Parts: sequence; C-alpha cells; structure tokens
Amino acid sequence: MNYLVEQFGLKDRHAVVTGAGRGIGRACALALAAAGAEVLVHYRKSKKEAEEVVAQINADGGRAWAAGADLTRSDEVKNLFSEVEKKWGSLDLLVNNAGDLGGRSELAAMSDDQINHVLQANLHSMLFSTRSAVPLLHRGRDPAIVNLTSIGAHNGGVGGVTIYVATKGAILSATRSLARELAPRIRVNAIAPGFILTDLHRIHSTEEKLKQLAENTPLKRNGTAEECASVVVFLCGKGASFLTGEIIEINGGLWMA
Ligand SMILES: NC(=O)c1ccc[n+]([C@@H]2O[C@H](COP(=O)([O-])OP(=O)(O)OC[C@H]3O[C@@H](n4cnc5c(N)ncnc54)[C@H](OP(=O)(O)O)[C@@H]3O)[C@@H](O)[C@H]2O)c1
Repeated sequence: MNYLVEQFGLKDRHAVVTGAGRGIGRACALALAAAGAEVLVHYRKSKKEAEEVVAQINADGGRAWAAGADLTRSDEVKNLFSEVEKKWGSLDLLVNNAGDLGGRSELAAMSDDQINHVLQANLHSMLFSTRSAVPLLHRGRDPAIVNLTSIGAHNGGVGGVTIYVATKGAILSATRSLARELAPRIRVNAIAPGFILTDLHRIHSTEEKLKQLAENTPLKRNGTAEECASVVVFLCGKGASFLTGEIIEINGGLWMA
C-alpha cells in the first residue's frame, strides 16, 4: 500500500467534491484519489475540465466519475445526490468547494440579482448539497464534510466583496453548527484559505494586488490549490478523527487566529 493511502485511511472511500473541474476543487479531487478514495468530480460549466480530471485520476490508477449540476438549484442538487445513491448506496466524504466571488462591487451599487447570485452560489450551494448528502453520509464509513470558508470571514474582504465574505462567514458558523447537529456520526470541518492562485483571483484580482498581498504575507507568497487540498485530505482522513467544528487557516500567516 502506498504511503498516502496508509497515512490517511481513505482507501475505497466514496467522496464527492463540488466544483472539481478547476481550482481548489480539482486539486482536492486529485489528492483524495491519490489517497485511495473514489471521487465524484462535480462540475457546473467545466464539463470538459472535469472529464480531464477523471481521465487523469483513472490514468494514475485511481477511480473517478463526473456529474454536472448547478448547485444553486435544489432540484439539480437532489438529482446529483440521487445519482450518488444509485452508484454507491452511501457516501463517506463531502467537500463543499463550489463557490463564486461574483465580481467586485460596492454593496450600494449591487442589484438584487447580483446579491442573490453570490448568496446562492456560495451559501445555498453548500446548504443544498449538505442537506441532500446527509442521509447518505449517515450510511457511510467514518463520514466527514469539509467546507470552504475564507480568510475574509474573519478579517473582512478587500475591494467590493462584502456579500461574498458574508456567505463565507455564514459557512463558518454553519460548519460549527452542523458539527454539533451531525455529531457524533459525521465530522464537519472547514478550511479558510487566504489568497490562493486560481481563476477566482486570476479573473477578479490584479497582479499588482496579489503581489502586494504576497509581500504582506509572512511566507512572502500567495498559496496554491494543492496546499489547500493537502489539508482537506487530512481533515477527511483518520488523522483528523477527533476534529470537528474546526476551521483550519491556510494563509501563509497573513491572518492569525
Ligand atoms: N482562491 C482563493 O483565494 C480562495 C480563498 C478563500 C476561499 N476560496 C473558496 O474556495 C472555493 C474554490 O475556489 P477557487 O479559487 O478554486 O475558485 P474557482 O477556480 O473560481 O472555481 C470555482 C468552482 O466553483 C464551481 N461553481 C461556481 N458556481 C457554481 C454553481 N452555481 N454550481 C456548481 N458549481 C459552481 C465552478 O464550477 P464550473 O467551473 O463547472 O462552473 C468551479 O469549479 C470557493 O468556495 C472559494 O470561495 C478560495
């Protein structure tokens, strides 16, 4: 058995990673598969990219499949988890990764639709997915949920991201509440990344801003999706068996609890 599989105890576990065609979700899907889990690589628009992730996992000797859903739509979320139930009968791990910054704008300039879009893409997606997954997780082996909150949930957001940051604060609180609600059967934790180089910043942040943030970070750089994924695998695995309701900061020291 390879080191990763032995270390994390995730061999043959069934894992759903939402928004896994790109960014942090993609890195989580690859890392969980490398640690022995069979992974549902969920996508919304990035079908081709999700299929490439599946192909890469299969080529490396792992097991994965892809399925699509817009997680802001509860009917599509229900269908997604019906597919999971048909295929696996139960679920062991859920990584609620999907999210959307939704652009940068001061609150006073945002329309109802813009506000609702950001609330739904981040908060409703996590709540709908968790609601549908919980009955399957109750039938799983050492089940665990990992949510994605953000440094902004503690420290406020910079540059027109108030609604996004509000959703991440809600996810942080919901993580702790769900940890109590679902104990002792299902562990619920979250990671709170700082500034991680993915499309989210490539699209919505300037290079100059990212460079400035890196300079203000004790470790003197922005983070990578892989650095988030390694903590997600840890939270899913046997090394984190007594952790629930915990928020792990991944920010190079930019914000310290
Ligand atoms: N990057 C950072 O610095 C950072 C910091 C803190 C927290 N986070 C959080 O980490 C998570 C991943 O971020 P990322 O940086 O990897 O972002 P990303 O590269 O922009 O990827 C976002 C992912 O979310 C999916 N998604 C968005 N809206 C969706 C919807 N309505 N239904 C289903 N899927 C949806 C996308 O799927 P499709 O491409 O298939 O549409 C995509 O896979 C997010 O929750 C984000 O808030 C990121």
